[in-house]
Amino acid sequence: MSNPLREISLRPITKDNLEDCCRLRVAPEQDDFVERNVGSLAEAYVTPEYHPLAVYDGEQMVGFTMYGEETPGRWWVIRLMVDQRFQGRGYGKAAMLALIDLMRERHGCDEIVTSDVPGNPIAEGLYVGLGFRATGEIDEDEIVMLLDLNA
Ligand SMILES: CC(C)(COP(=O)(O)OP(=O)(O)OC[C@H]1O[C@@H](n2cnc3c(N)ncnc32)[C@H](O)[C@@H]1OP(=O)(O)O)[C@@H](O)C(=O)NCCC(=O)NCCS
Repeated sequence: MSNPLREISLRPITKDNLEDCCRLRVAPEQDDFVERNVGSLAEAYVTPEYHPLAVYDGEQMVGFTMYGEETPGRWWVIRLMVDQRFQGRGYGKAAMLALIDLMRERHGCDEIVTSDVPGNPIAEGLYVGLGFRATGEIDEDEIVMLLDLNA
C-alpha cells in the first residue's frame, strides 16, 4: 500500500525516546479508547510477542502503535494512538499503512486483525477506510475487525 506522508517512520522505543513516548496523550474524552503508552510498554515488557513502535514525522514523535502475534499465525494491531496535538492530519492513517507494510514484509502477514471500542467513530472510519471488516467476534467488549491483504 502506498504511504501518503513521505516523512512517516515507525521506530523502536529506546531509552532515548521512552520519555517522549510516555508523554504522548490522546484527548481526555478519548482516554477510554486506548491504554496509556506507559501501560502498553509494560505489557510489551512482559510479552515478547508484542512489538511497540513510536510513530514519527521526521524527527517529531506523533504517536504510538503496538503489534504482535496474539495466537500462532494471528497478527494483531494491538494499539494505535496519535497525540491529541497531531490528530486529524493523516498520521493515524499513515501509521497504519506503514505498519501494514511492515507486518507484511517482516512477518509475511496476509491477514491483520484489530479491535475497536464501540462508540469510537474516528477509529472505525480509519479501519473501515483501510479495508478492515468486522468479523462478528467481540473481544473484551471490543469489535474485532480483519483486513484481508489478499482480497
Ligand atoms: C484513531 C486515531 C489514531 C486516528 O488518528 P488521526 O491521525 O487523527 O487520523 P487521520 O487524520 O489519519 O484520519 C484517519 C481517518 O480517521 C477518520 N477521521 C479522522 N478524523 C475524524 C473526525 N474528526 N471525525 C470522523 N472521522 C475522522 C477518517 O476516516 C480518516 O480517514 P480519511 O482522512 O481518509 O477520511 C486518533 O484519533 C487517536 O489516537 N484516537 C484515540 C485513541 C484511539 O481511539 N485509538 C484507536 C483504538 S481502537
